[in-house]
Amino acid sequence: MVHRVTELLGDGIGPELCEAVHHVAEALPTEVRFEQVDLSLEERKRRGRGVYDEAYESVRSAGAAIKYPTVTEIESPNAVLRKRCNFTVIHRPVMTLPGVKSNFTGKVDLEIVRLAIGGTYQDPGQQVGPDVAVSLRIVERSTVQSAAVYAFALARRLGTHVTSSSKWTIQRATDGLFEEAVRDVAKRYPDVPHRQELFDALLAKICMRPDDFRVIILLNEYGDFLSDMASGLVGSLGIAASGSFSFTTDGRVDLAMFDAAHGTAPDIAGKGVANPTAILLAFAQLLSHVGETAIGQALRRTILGQLAAGRSTRDLGGTLTTMEFTREVRGAFLDRIRAVATA
Ligand code: NAI
Repeated sequence: MVHRVTELLGDGIGPELCEAVHHVAEALPTEVRFEQVDLSLEERKRRGRGVYDEAYESVRSAGAAIKYPTVTEIESPNAVLRKRCNFTVIHRPVMTLPGVKSNFTGKVDLEIVRLAIGGTYQDPGQQVGPDVAVSLRIVERSTVQSAAVYAFALARRLGTHVTSSSKWTIQRATDGLFEEAVRDVAKRYPDVPHRQELFDALLAKICMRPDDFRVIILLNEYGDFLSDMASGLVGSLGIAASGSFSFTTDGRVDLAMFDAAHGTAPDIAGKGVANPTAILLAFAQLLSHVGETAIGQALRRTILGQLAAGRSTRDLGGTLTTMEFTREVRGAFLDRIRAVATA
């Protein structure tokens, strides 16, 4: 099976990460055909909107993309792509990475499904007289429903439950609508347990009993806060990956884009020392998304296994270069695949 994937090239450490992804992709027992669109600053300056038209057409045709970090100068390519591709949901897995130092002793393994639009983030607000300012909080049933379908389908695949979280006791209209829309979707997944947690209580409970939570669906800002808190608990904001999704009118995933949460790291660009963990985890997420769930999970486990064994780049206290770490991952991944094949 050949999987067509758009590859959105970027700036800074982007080319090094791209090399790492290709090195791993070549070892997969399935073929990934990359269709590159250059979103580097130079190309964006040279081609203007045309480069985004090409990116959008390519993502629309392939259905899935991997994106490398891009410099935000005139515009934020991520914001442009989000708008163009109508990405309304962000899925960020956050898990304890053995081998990565953290002040938190609990084990975190969360799948955070966050609405990428609406909430209080869509409206910058306005001043009403000199001493008062207001902003709108926007919740749309259709967006919540698509996100909820995504969350419940994910939980079903993982054999786990879904927690929806908001402040429905205070924000009765908006958060009430959010919870109502999630509950409606939950009825279609009777095999997937659903529970609700007030957002403030959720933060405390995750700190006290992280094992109680797995797939969590949240409105835009709550998802933003939780993603950062969870990343902090596991010891690093810099190794997180996420998927962004758009949906068809009947709630199925339409387009998907996977990327690392970190930026272009200009201070280390070109030195061959960038940590490829986040982009390789994003690639693993992409593989699962295009139907190669076993391969995606095997790749993810392999990456975590390498970190657990103390192999890492220097930002995590190790000594490996980008490609040394990537070669370790590739070798261990091939061993894992062979072991499964001969078992
Ligand atoms: P940054 O994430 O690029 O760098 C912050 C620090 O983390 C630096 O010391 C850097 O060396 C380190 N770092 C980041 N990724 C690393 C990796 N993979 N391996 C080892 N060390 C890593 O954030 P910064 O400096 O604020 O932003 C630089 C540029 O990236 C800006 O133009 C910003 O707009 C852009 N950016 C792009 C993003 C994207 O395309 N998704 C996301 C965040 C920032």
